[in-house]
Amino acid sequence: MQTASKLDTELPLTSSVTLKNRFFKAAMSEQLGDSDHNPTPELFKLYETWAKGGAGICVTGNLMVDRNALGEPKNVVLDHQSDLSKFREWVRHGTENNTQLWAQLNHPGKQIPSFISSEPVAPSAIALEGELEKGFKKPRAMTEQEINDVIKAFARTAELAKEVGFQGVQIHSAHGYLVNQFLSPRHNQRDDQWGGSVENRQRFVIEVFKAIRNAVGDTFPIGIKLNSADFMKDGLSEEESMGVVKALSEAGIDLIEVSGGTYESPAMMGVDLKESTKKREAYFLEYAIKARQHTNKVLVVTGGFRSAAAMNEALQENACDMIGLGRPMAMQPDLPQKAMDNPDFKIEVAIKSTGFEILDKIAMLDLTWYEAQLSLMGKGKQPNSSLSGWNVLLQTLGNMGSYAFRKRRA
Ligand SMILES: Cc1cc2nc3c(=O)[nH]c(=O)nc-3n(C[C@H](O)[C@H](O)[C@H](O)COP(=O)(O)O)c2cc1C
Repeated sequence: MQTASKLDTELPLTSSVTLKNRFFKAAMSEQLGDSDHNPTPELFKLYETWAKGGAGICVTGNLMVDRNALGEPKNVVLDHQSDLSKFREWVRHGTENNTQLWAQLNHPGKQIPSFISSEPVAPSAIALEGELEKGFKKPRAMTEQEINDVIKAFARTAELAKEVGFQGVQIHSAHGYLVNQFLSPRHNQRDDQWGGSVENRQRFVIEVFKAIRNAVGDTFPIGIKLNSADFMKDGLSEEESMGVVKALSEAGIDLIEVSGGTYESPAMMGVDLKESTKKREAYFLEYAIKARQHTNKVLVVTGGFRSAAAMNEALQENACDMIGLGRPMAMQPDLPQKAMDNPDFKIEVAIKSTGFEILDKIAMLDLTWYEAQLSLMGKGKQPNSSLSGWNVLLQTLGNMGSYAFRKRRA
């Protein structure tokens, strides 16, 4: 007998906020900011399309908290120089259909491509590896003052996000960005209060959280995207990640989205999957089940979900409360509605290659191909699953000139 779907059931998030269903559109960097890093009409259209497609929460692609520290050239930045009217317009479109629109807040730390910054900062002066050293400069270790300034920048951006109407914020603490760098024993080898012991490495994320809470008040939802582990030698371990879940839950976080890996070891994109994981589709379910013992907050698992059956099963077994979706939402913006209407719903996502692995890699096709889909939707068009790799490569080159062929990160 088939159990009733939980996908379209409501979910209480806080004492005053109830989500309309279990679909969570995960952050995907859109590369649709203007030259002043404000949101554009393409972003309005894209988020309106997602809102109409039925997701309970849509999280923006990473918004940068410091305009001197961009992860990518066309990032949106939210600070006192921003044109807030454009952000309000973005929120107006993205909250149609009773959708919650949350802002993902990020600082890249050392994950700033060298064509953007010649002197990135990080917890310690340790370069990226795994071929990334070619596109990213070795960083300088942050001073105590710089650490405090970045904490303040997160809080300031969160306060502005609330002011312009976003209904929640999410700290990006995954995928090797600055907050993740502080947590990692490999990337954080400081010998002051910000490094060394687990407690010291956790201090940065906890201080960022507390500063945001202080800025937005007790009832405004705050979430985090957290790595279940970094999946690399001396990276954040599962046990240490669980410690962060526990500490942030005690501190009052409202939602935890589970991901994993970094661009040195991209587990979040589903590499080297075990057979048992392939069957359940989602990459980080086992971790989420364990995390339940340390938190009673809303848990989201992102990475790998492709069928309504696997999504519903994860909810039924109480592994998570919401289904995080990235690439499938770039191909099918009304996926939530379709999956709620049809228990047999399934989506395949496969990018078109140029046929040359090296070109695919140089052009970062595993990201830029999806970015091209977001751009199509921003123009009011449908995503195009047969879009050729060459087309994306040339388009990226045309749009972004020489930037296209340098390393970029999402
Ligand atoms: C084009 C693109 C951009 C992304 N940008 C971000 C980002 O800004 N912040 C983030 O936390 N994750 C980002 N991700 C990762 C996704 O949120 C998600 O974790 C990943 O795609 C795995 O989920 P999926 O299997 O549903 O795609 C990005 C992924 C893609 C494909």
